[in-house]
Amino acid sequence: MLLDSTPGNQAEKDGPPNISVQSSYMIDDAKTKLEMACPHTVSCADIITFAARDVVTMSGGPRWNVLKGRKDGRISKAAETINLPAPTFNVTQLIQSFAKRGIGAKDLVALSGGHTLGFSHCSSFEARLHNFSSAHDTDPSMNSEFAQKLRKKCPKPNRDHNAGEFLDSTLSTFDNDYYRRLMAGKGVFGSDQALAGDYRTRWIVEAFAKDQSLCFKEFTASMVKLGNVGVIENGEVRLKCRVVN
Ligand code: HEM
Repeated sequence: MLLDSTPGNQAEKDGPPNISVQSSYMIDDAKTKLEMACPHTVSCADIITFAARDVVTMSGGPRWNVLKGRKDGRISKAAETINLPAPTFNVTQLIQSFAKRGIGAKDLVALSGGHTLGFSHCSSFEARLHNFSSAHDTDPSMNSEFAQKLRKKCPKPNRDHNAGEFLDSTLSTFDNDYYRRLMAGKGVFGSDQALAGDYRTRWIVEAFAKDQSLCFKEFTASMVKLGNVGVIENGEVRLKCRVVN
């Protein structure tokens, strides 16, 4: 995720779904300080896992213990981003995509709560706003006032490639507002909104919308699980996060 593209290789961070991945300079700063304090010890994979935990805690969310000792990979391919779940996925596709990584439906709903923070470009949700289907111009699962607001932000044609919307109304606060918005038809992505419309996940969305401490507890447990997905044994501790040693 952190490796830069090279003349012969387009790296994962430059794959189409990673349009927002630009801030790895913060990881570079942390790495420089760690290399001075404790050379060749803390991997970039561990740093990014700490950073994910810290941004949640600093935004008012829970804190948890990060397991350490991950190694960094040596291969990064943009083509592999095809394996990421897409914002157009339905619940069956989301469940399958997470199951491939050994993560269940409750984790899927808990982790989607990460969308209480951050921003999305129009390209990730504009298909819900214009010519959605032969019967509906706009996705009928979207609240109509919310759809109108998003259509203004993302008109068709849209010449501003940076345009988009924040994923939740409390943009830099980690809370359970995301789930309350799903219940009101105000999810930005089709994949988010689908969680509130399917019997397998709706009851979990309802429970998290009602109870923030339950939502924090489950998010924490699921983040620990996610942090154990794809951990490699034959890696290295990179000296610089953007290039292999
Ligand atoms: C369930 C499957 C998921 C899908 C389909 C999905 C999809 C997306 C998409 C399309 C974007 C916006 C990209 C853009 O247009 O700039 C996004 C942003 C984001 N996602 Fe997800 N995501 C998923 C799971 C997660 C998980 C598990 C987390 C964290 C626990 C997460 C955290 C975020 C955050 C924080 C942003 C905002 C990034 C920013 O502001 O730069 N997402 N996601």
